[in-house]
Amino acid sequence: MTATRIDGKAIAAALREKIAVEGKKLIDETGVVPGIAVVIVGEDPASKVYVASKGKAANECHFKSVEHALPADTSEDTLLSLVGELNEDDSIHGILVQLPLPDHIDESKVLELIRPDKDVDGFHPINVGLLTAGAKDKAMVPCTPAGSLILAKRSLGDLSGKSAVVVGRSNIVGKPMAALLLAESCTVTIAHSRTKDLPSVVKAADIVVAAVGRPQMIKGDWIKDGACVIDVGINRIPAPERGEGKTRLVGDVDYDGAAEHAGFITPVPGGVGPMTIALLMANTLTSARRAAG
Ligand code: GUN
Repeated sequence: MTATRIDGKAIAAALREKIAVEGKKLIDETGVVPGIAVVIVGEDPASKVYVASKGKAANECHFKSVEHALPADTSEDTLLSLVGELNEDDSIHGILVQLPLPDHIDESKVLELIRPDKDVDGFHPINVGLLTAGAKDKAMVPCTPAGSLILAKRSLGDLSGKSAVVVGRSNIVGKPMAALLLAESCTVTIAHSRTKDLPSVVKAADIVVAAVGRPQMIKGDWIKDGACVIDVGINRIPAPERGEGKTRLVGDVDYDGAAEHAGFITPVPGGVGPMTIALLMANTLTSARRAAG
C-alpha cells in the first residue's frame, strides 16, 4: 500500500482563507478587530521562525498582530508584568508566550497568569480542565492537537471506535491530543519512553500521532496497514547528501517506510506545522467573537 499524503499546507491555507473571511465579517459587523500578541524571550532560532510565521498568518487574516521580543535575560517579573498588561488590553484577544522559556523563568507561573479567555494556546489549567472534562466547546483547545485532529478526521471520517495511539505525553501535544481523540470516542493509548514493546502498541493503532521529538523513531513496519499517521515531530538532522554542513527537517516517523503501510500520512514539513498556525488564528477569532458578545 502507498499512503495518501495529507497536504497540511493546502488544508491550512484554505482554513486561513475561511478565517480571514469570517474575521472581516466580525470587523464589519462589530468593529472588533481580532488581535493577537506573541511574546518571545531569547534567541532560539526555531522559536523565531515560528513567531515570524504566526505574525505573517495574522496579517493575512487581517488581524492586529503585535510581537514582543524580549532579551534572554529578561526577568520573570518583567515577563509577568507584560502578560498582565496584555490581559488588560482590550485590543488583544489572544496571548501566546512562545515556549520554551529560559530556565530562570517559571513557565507555569507565566502560563497561569494568562487570562483563560485570551489563552489561545490552551495551556492554562482552566482550559486544560475544560478539555479533560469533555467541555471542549467552552475551552481554548491547544492548536497542534486541534490541527492534527482535523487532518485525521478529513482522512478517516468518523473516528468513533477506532484505536488511536499517541506517542508522547507532553502537556502541549500528547495529553491534549489524547483528550481530543477520546472526545471523538476513540480507544486511546498514550505511549511514552517507558512503554514496553512500542512497535506492537503502534501496530495495533488505526491512528498514530507521533509527538516524541526524536527524528524518524517510528519505523515503517510498526504501522498497521491502512492506518492514519499524523507526524507532529519537527527535527533538524544533518543532510550531507545536500552538501557539507547542510541539514533537513524530518518528523518523528520514518516517512518513506511508513508510507508503504499507512493509508494516510502527513509529511514534514508541510503537514501538521501549518495547521498549528491556522488553528492559532481560529482560536484568536473565537476569542474576539466572544469578546464582541
Ligand atoms: N513551542 C512549541 N510549540 C509551541 C506552541 O504550540 N505554543 C507555544 N506557546 N510555544 C510552543
